[in-house]
Amino acid sequence: FGQKLVYKEEVTSTQEEAHKLAGKNEPEGTVVAADKQLQGRGRLDRPWVSASGTGLWFSIILRPDIRPQNAPQLTLLAAVAVTEGIANASGLQPRIKWPNDILLNEKKTAGILTEMQSDPDRVQAVIIGIGLNINHDKDHFPPELQSKATSLALENNGTAFHRADITASVLRSLEYWYGTYLTGGFGAVRRRWEELADTIGNHVRAVSRFKTVEGYAEGITDDGVLLIKQKDGTIEKIYSADID
Ligand code: BTN
Repeated sequence: FGQKLVYKEEVTSTQEEAHKLAGKNEPEGTVVAADKQLQGRGRLDRPWVSASGTGLWFSIILRPDIRPQNAPQLTLLAAVAVTEGIANASGLQPRIKWPNDILLNEKKTAGILTEMQSDPDRVQAVIIGIGLNINHDKDHFPPELQSKATSLALENNGTAFHRADITASVLRSLEYWYGTYLTGGFGAVRRRWEELADTIGNHVRAVSRFKTVEGYAEGITDDGVLLIKQKDGTIEKIYSADID
C-alpha cells in the first residue's frame, strides 16, 4: 500500500480527497496523506484535531469484493493493523477499544473512520481514514480532551518518533491483514481483534443516541457487532455507541 501516495501539506480532510479519487476509479492501495487538516472528521460526526507537524492524517482506498453489510469488518481489520503497526515501530503496546479506538494507558492515540461508496449489493470502495497522534505534547489537546487523548511521544517519556517510520509500519501491517482477509476471510482478523481489545471480557456501558446498555461484553459477531450480556441474561447487539 502507498505505492501511489498523494501527499498534501494542507487539506480540508483526507477523507474528502480520497472519496473524490475513489469516484474517479483510482485503484486500491492509493493513500492520501496530509500534514494538516482544516476539518478533520471523527466518528459520529465529531471533529478530529489535526494540526500540522505532530500527527499523521491519511486515508486509504480499498476495493474489496464484498457486500456493504460486511464493510464494518474492515474497520476492525484497520484497528488490528494500526495497533500492530504502532507496536512494531515504537515498542509501545496499544490496546483496542470497541470498535476501533487505539489506546495507550486508556487514552486515545489513534482513530479510524471507515466510509464506503457502494451499490445496494456490492461495495465500490472503502475509504479508511487513520489519524495517528505521534509527537503531540500535553498542551496540544483542548482541555476537555486532555484526560482522554494522548500521543505516542507522550507515552514514550516525551521522546519523539519519526512520523514516516510509524506510518510505513502501519501501512505494512494494513497490507498484511488485508491480504489475510482477502485470502482467508474475517476469522483470523476477528480472533486477533479480540486478543488486542480491552473491551471484551469486561463489564461495559454502551451509550448511544437511542439508549444505554450495560453488561458483560461477550465478543463481536462476524459483522463487527458488539454483544453485551445484560443482568437478566438477554444479549443486546450494539451497532454504534461509545463505550465507557
Ligand atoms: C475517530 O476516532 O473518531 C476517527 C478519527 C479519524 C481521523 C482520520 S485523520 C485522516 C482521516 N481524515 C479525516 O478527516 N478523518 C480521518
